[in-house]
Amino acid sequence: GSLFESVVLQNMTEAELYSLYKGVYVPTHLHPPESLRYCEEFTFRPDDILITTYPKSGTTWMQEVVPLIVSEGDLTPVLTVPNWDRVPWLEEHRAILLNLEQRASPRVFATHFHHHMMNESYFKIKPRVLYLMRNPKDVFTSSYYYYGMASYLVKPGTQDEFMEKFLDGKIMFGSWFDHVKGWINAEERESILYIFYEEMIADLKGSVEKIAKFLGKSLSPDVTEKIAEHCVFKNMKQNIMSNFSLVPEEYMDQKKSEFLRKGNKYKHNSSVTTLT
Ligand code: A3P
Repeated sequence: GSLFESVVLQNMTEAELYSLYKGVYVPTHLHPPESLRYCEEFTFRPDDILITTYPKSGTTWMQEVVPLIVSEGDLTPVLTVPNWDRVPWLEEHRAILLNLEQRASPRVFATHFHHHMMNESYFKIKPRVLYLMRNPKDVFTSSYYYYGMASYLVKPGTQDEFMEKFLDGKIMFGSWFDHVKGWINAEERESILYIFYEEMIADLKGSVEKIAKFLGKSLSPDVTEKIAEHCVFKNMKQNIMSNFSLVPEEYMDQKKSEFLRKGNKYKHNSSVTTLT
């Protein structure tokens, strides 16, 4: 339909594909003005759970892990509901259609918004936030492949060209650096759990425990093990409800690059930063 007509056009520019929202580029066709308005007016509940990430930092992974913690290991939600409806992005056009106001608590949402883009209700209610960060070199590499296969994004060009845009924040959801800085300096730190993609790679079971504890869930060791086992890259990659294989090819061409592409720490000499 018309949704895809615009995106199959090649070589479209930033001006054609992105809009500027609160000073940050967002892909227009995923986040049309009515979606941004919906987001602006959205009312949070104190027990909402917000998975917050810069794109390509492991959002999809969290969209698998968190529902399984909430369901205490029952696989039904992750095997029957696509990740984008299971844990909807609040700013995405689909959110309006999902009747989120009627969802039972705890509701789980995702957002790529910078801290300063959050609405009034967020700052008043202070729902729980899982802020997942990933080493920017790996975010860069993952993004580079993703921009090459997703038709709603401006083509990345060469690695050098894309690096300039990445450093200048001239890509979707702006600068990684600003995103991380904004969320790390949030005043409402008590309601935020900061977690690293790299620590999930190193110890998924430990990460599941840590997230569960933050969410006030006590899981048995068996359930923790089951969740970690299901969410490990090679298993999650097989889940059609989470590997984006249901998305039409003209929109994401996974023959060019798979969505769950590598799922690892890349081999460069980088150390994982720890927050104190
Ligand atoms: P790569 O492109 O490096 O493979 P997002 O969901 O925020 O768009 O992030 C996508 C990145 O998370 C991709 O990185 C993807 O492979 C990785 N990812 C998704 N599920 C994962 C899992 N179960 N384990 C490890 N990495 C995962």
